[in-house]
Amino acid sequence: MTIQFNDETFRDDYTFNNSEWAIKRFPFPFHEDSYMYSVNMEQHRGGPEGSVYEMRFDVDEHYVSEMKDRAMVLDQDPLRCQSLPHMTLAGWDLLELIMASKSEDYPDLFELHRNGNQWRWINKPMGIDHSFTFMDETTLPYGPMEYITRQAQGDFAVLDQRDEMLWMDAGMVTTQADWSLDFDIGMNFFEWHAPVPKAHEMGIFQRALKFLLNIQQGAPARRLNWTMTVNPLLDTSPENYHKWGIQKTTLTPENIAHKQHLRVELQTFFRLPRSNALVFPIRCYLCSFQDLMTVPKWGRRLHRVIRDLPEELATYKGFIDNRPMMLDYLSQFDDGLPTSPGI
Ligand code: HEM
Repeated sequence: MTIQFNDETFRDDYTFNNSEWAIKRFPFPFHEDSYMYSVNMEQHRGGPEGSVYEMRFDVDEHYVSEMKDRAMVLDQDPLRCQSLPHMTLAGWDLLELIMASKSEDYPDLFELHRNGNQWRWINKPMGIDHSFTFMDETTLPYGPMEYITRQAQGDFAVLDQRDEMLWMDAGMVTTQADWSLDFDIGMNFFEWHAPVPKAHEMGIFQRALKFLLNIQQGAPARRLNWTMTVNPLLDTSPENYHKWGIQKTTLTPENIAHKQHLRVELQTFFRLPRSNALVFPIRCYLCSFQDLMTVPKWGRRLHRVIRDLPEELATYKGFIDNRPMMLDYLSQFDDGLPTSPGI
């Protein structure tokens, strides 16, 4: 497989762009005309060829530019990457998982050569060729989790599992939908989910936790989540709310087609072998309304989902004020025809 990497920005002049290939494989998250939270978990055992589900860690045309954006965020705010002292072993587990997966799934882009603990890692898109000693931090420029997640798209929460609970004790979080690792570090599963409306009363978090505690090595799981973002911004963090929050007020009927983006997170869950930690990669895919509307069934369905979404969810997801303008735009693409179940 050969991927043409885009040279693009997710800030300032926003040169981010999705190719036809990227639009076609965009993980449209709605399999019916309405949406409510659920325990929408399934096994992460690959998927159709070329889809975002095919590989364990999807690499696409945005890879190199996303990694540049991450480096900029970390330069300005090193606290976006944190690992409590007992999580270093989990960091090595994660480094191994990502290096092994990427080199097996994309052999033309990544190579891992192992001779005992002497490892050589080649990342061709980023121009990295590094030899190091596995489990020896002094041979890497950063800690193991930071080293590898500077080379992997998406955010990563690394959860320690103890007392039948998950604890957010490490992470690399620079592309998040308005939550903060620095705020959540050390919290447990129920604590960091406290702000989410409705789902607690529906028993979703109790059931989800039970599922996660039982995830076994070699049997990863996945789910989708979604929200809305004005402009193709990766970094919509509380830390930078003063920069991006105001951009929601710049939406107009004239610019909504290219400025408003559906933001979909492909969330996966992997058990790590030595530490028994759970890693939670959160991969963000952005698609503008105008690109989504090139697929007629998506246009129809998005209109209905946004129109009927409970107010609490539209408020939590941060687009309640812009919802009427979105509906004016989207209604043109809804011809009233029935949609079939599935995506
Ligand atoms: C939201 C983390 C697993 C359902 C969130 C938030 C965080 C988070 C940080 C944002 C909360 C805020 O507003 O500050 C995690 C981590 C997980 C995990 C680290 C892995 C261990 C799950 C699972 C489910 C789930 C398995 C479900 C069934 C949700 C829902 C929201 C949410 C429904 C609200 C999202 C929205 O409306 O945009 N999660 N989560 N989470 N989480 Fe999780």
